Amino acid sequence: MRQSLSARARAIAAPTYEDFPLPPGAVDLRGDHAPSPVAGLLAEAWRSSAARTHELVTYSDPQGSLSLREEIAGRFSVKPDAVLVTAGASEAIMIALLLVADAGGRIALSRPGFPAYEQLARCIGLEVVSYDPAVPAAIQVGGLPSPPSAIVTVSPHNPTGFALEEAPGDGAARERPWSVRDISHAPEPLLGAGDWTDQEHDMLIFSFSKGLRIPALRVGCLIARDLETMRAATALKTHLSMAVSIPVQRFLLTLLRDPELPNLIRSQQQLYARNRLVITDAIRAANSLSLVGGEAGTHLVVRGRDREGEVALWSRLGHAGIGGLPGSVFAAPYACVRLSYGQTAADIDRSGTRIASL
Ligand SMILES: Cc1ncc(COP(=O)(O)O)c(C=O)c1O
Repeated sequence: MRQSLSARARAIAAPTYEDFPLPPGAVDLRGDHAPSPVAGLLAEAWRSSAARTHELVTYSDPQGSLSLREEIAGRFSVKPDAVLVTAGASEAIMIALLLVADAGGRIALSRPGFPAYEQLARCIGLEVVSYDPAVPAAIQVGGLPSPPSAIVTVSPHNPTGFALEEAPGDGAARERPWSVRDISHAPEPLLGAGDWTDQEHDMLIFSFSKGLRIPALRVGCLIARDLETMRAATALKTHLSMAVSIPVQRFLLTLLRDPELPNLIRSQQQLYARNRLVITDAIRAANSLSLVGGEAGTHLVVRGRDREGEVALWSRLGHAGIGGLPGSVFAAPYACVRLSYGQTAADIDRSGTRIASL
């Protein structure tokens, strides 16, 4: 008989939407279903970036093609050397976690929080110190007697939609924790050049799959201006997935260079702002619900009044025609349900009426 699965493999959890089925007739607010802002550009960009056969029999530079890194670098006001093109932001998350602590080290993560951080951190033997995503993390964990090696912040936050400016840390302190900032839900990198270079952030993580709403693309990036960090990140990427394919990188480059992109992203942001208002107003109008976040991004968290349990709240929303995801998927320390308002305006209007009646 062979050995059993590793304890880490047995402990890993990766629930899918199918684990939380939609009741018949419910509006699906479990994930983002708004049309892609670049839907009208995809066919032509795909045609023009089709693989040339020699590209199918070769690897790309593991760090990413220079032309794509130059394009991304301009959007983060860094040099192309500071950009690592990754297989979605998911791969950048794994790389960042491997860079900032050894097994047995501590890392500060928000609860609730995007599940990949907590699942992968535990998998590689890190101890998690949790903080509330409504309050700057540095304030909550800065004074701990045994500070974490790294603080991860996600803003706009998934699942609560909080948008936080981090509190300034002590830039002069030599042993301050690493600061890893996940901005996968921020529109700025798709709108044009932005300055993210303030000293408090050692690494930025961004998802082009999310921002462009083309999850099949599997392209993200890790930005780190420190060359030693980037060298190690690139070495890790080489062993994790070697390289993002050349045709996919060219496809992304074509989309990023399209002069229409900023307008398309702005319209999408207007849709989200409008949807957010409909849903937050509906929650405030409901007698039995309260709102946790919902300032930016596409997600927010709702709680039941009177200490209602998670399963009861999730089922009650389902019966009212609202499909969400239970907060335990995000390690929430309280009973709640995540709702995504990244939907069509028509679906959000239907949802608003149903939520307000609860
Ligand atoms: C905060 C955050 N980071 C990273 C990711 C992963 O993005 P990708 O699909 O590019 O791997 C997600 C996906 O939902 C996310 O919400």
